[in-house]
Amino acid sequence: MSETVSELARRRGFFFQASEAYGGAAGFYTYGPEGAALKRNIEDAWRDRFVTREGNMEIDSPTVTPEPVFQASGHLDDFDDMLVECPDCGESHRADHVIEDNTDVEDAESMPTDEVEALIADHELVCPACGGPLAGQSVTGFNLMFDTTIGPGDGDPGYLRPETAQGMFTEFPRLKEYARNQLPFGVAQVGTGYRNEISPRNALLRTREFTMAELEFFVDPADDGPALDRVADVELPLYPVDAQQAAGEEYLRLTPQEALAEGVVGGEWVAYFLARSKQWFERVGVDMDRFRFRQHLPGELAHYASDCWDAEGEVDGDWVELEGVASRTDYDLSKHDEHADDSFTVFQAYDEPKTVERASVDPEMSYLGPEFGGAAGDVADALAALAARDRAAFDGDEVTVDVDGESYTVPTERTGFEVAEETESGRHIIPHVVEPAFGIGRAVYTALAHSYEADEVDGEPRDVLRLPAEVAPTTVGVFPLMDKDGLGERAREIAAELRAAGLAVTYDDSGNIGRRYRRQDEVGTPYCVTVDYEALEEGAVTLRDRDTTTQVRVPIAEVAETLVGLRDGELRFEAL
Ligand code: GAP
Repeated sequence: MSETVSELARRRGFFFQASEAYGGAAGFYTYGPEGAALKRNIEDAWRDRFVTREGNMEIDSPTVTPEPVFQASGHLDDFDDMLVECPDCGESHRADHVIEDNTDVEDAESMPTDEVEALIADHELVCPACGGPLAGQSVTGFNLMFDTTIGPGDGDPGYLRPETAQGMFTEFPRLKEYARNQLPFGVAQVGTGYRNEISPRNALLRTREFTMAELEFFVDPADDGPALDRVADVELPLYPVDAQQAAGEEYLRLTPQEALAEGVVGGEWVAYFLARSKQWFERVGVDMDRFRFRQHLPGELAHYASDCWDAEGEVDGDWVELEGVASRTDYDLSKHDEHADDSFTVFQAYDEPKTVERASVDPEMSYLGPEFGGAAGDVADALAALAARDRAAFDGDEVTVDVDGESYTVPTERTGFEVAEETESGRHIIPHVVEPAFGIGRAVYTALAHSYEADEVDGEPRDVLRLPAEVAPTTVGVFPLMDKDGLGERAREIAAELRAAGLAVTYDDSGNIGRRYRRQDEVGTPYCVTVDYEALEEGAVTLRDRDTTTQVRVPIAEVAETLVGLRDGELRFEAL
């Protein structure tokens, strides 16, 4: 973000460094009054799109999570960034960022650590803080989770969640009941995530505590996907792996159906959520001329993902990841099914019961016991598993199984092998997950950067945030022309009426009208109402539009309804 917008954000109370009075800590920000309102409006627009309109559920799970959850999910082992430490000043840096910021290499994040070490040495890269040489320093994995202790004394180990997603996976055994075991269904969460970033930077873009909005969408991969005609008119700007590897900057511009038909996007639900995401980003103020979907390179994929597309916005010449739409397959639910006591499967009933052949064994333990001693029970289990997996293995006179690296051969007639017909009414499956995961702080930051403009009004320079009316912190500024002759009282009454109609209103009677307009333009207020002498005589006020600075007269009795219509996109100012 340009310095101008950062300065505006701080001065006008969008966001600022937290705990500054105590020196602050890098990577933590407070949203001021304007920023908190903008953030809340963006979150509400997200809920409207991804919860209400999609018919999904929303939950609110704890941010402190016991260690076994992250053992199962793989975060304890794999949620690492690459760290390199300066031998001179001791400062830690993200090794891939040091490379990407100082060379033409753009995908250092997806490389193994030995290649990263070699690149640092080959390019003779130095410490960004003190200029000391980094060549020869080892690059290590640094786990990004903040750890804590649950309870007094030694307590139990826990972690602040690095993603809201795990809360939705661990509660899956209950959530599937609320969804009446019917796939597909989606569970959403808007909440705080924590990552102990090695080098937080660019204000809200890389922080150590941030709000995420995530949807975990549970599907049966054998089922049909969504009706894509609902998003048929959305054109996706796609930057797939092969275009990136060819170092091209040309994006494919395809509808979801075309992207699927041409094999660019691998799954229907992914294509659907890319389209819904694009519509949502446009709705909250991201400029569609500075927006794309970039597919993850193979080495860049998170440990749980088989494919992922990042929604990216261009800010000050850099592409910023705003959202990831990932295919998490059955990775998460399988891991929790394996480690937890509950079942993470869903029973999918068939339309009609099916007759199936099932192979089973009933080994003669009076034979296995004397033959294999203590291993007899494990041999019997291995025979049962083999019968379910590969019934042809029982075609010969003998059958061989492996137990703990040892081979055991059993005459087939002693295994009690048989194939019987059974009626099956359905099957238990572990659902697959498609996950659109958004960073709200990054959406706030990009909407601010993309909506900022410096222009001129009546020969005077002005800073304006052209935020969509739906997300602007304040919808209307109400001004009396002067605070005398009853104008102030009438304006305050009108402000109260507008607040009662659910509008975000600011009242301002200080300075000349031009300056009051500028103050509202600067924080993105889309409309201003001025109460002048005619208002008292005719019962009508002046309504001014931020973007065109056009003014129209509106009867006081209609002003609340008009503003609600403008905010909700049901009216257009030009049509008033
Ligand atoms: N559950 C999937 C997941 O956590 P992610 O790509 O690691 O995916 C989701 O994070 C989103 O969170 C990102 O697309 C980004 O917008 C945001 N995000 C990630 N790390 C962040 C950080 N340190 N500061 C601010 N936002 C961040």
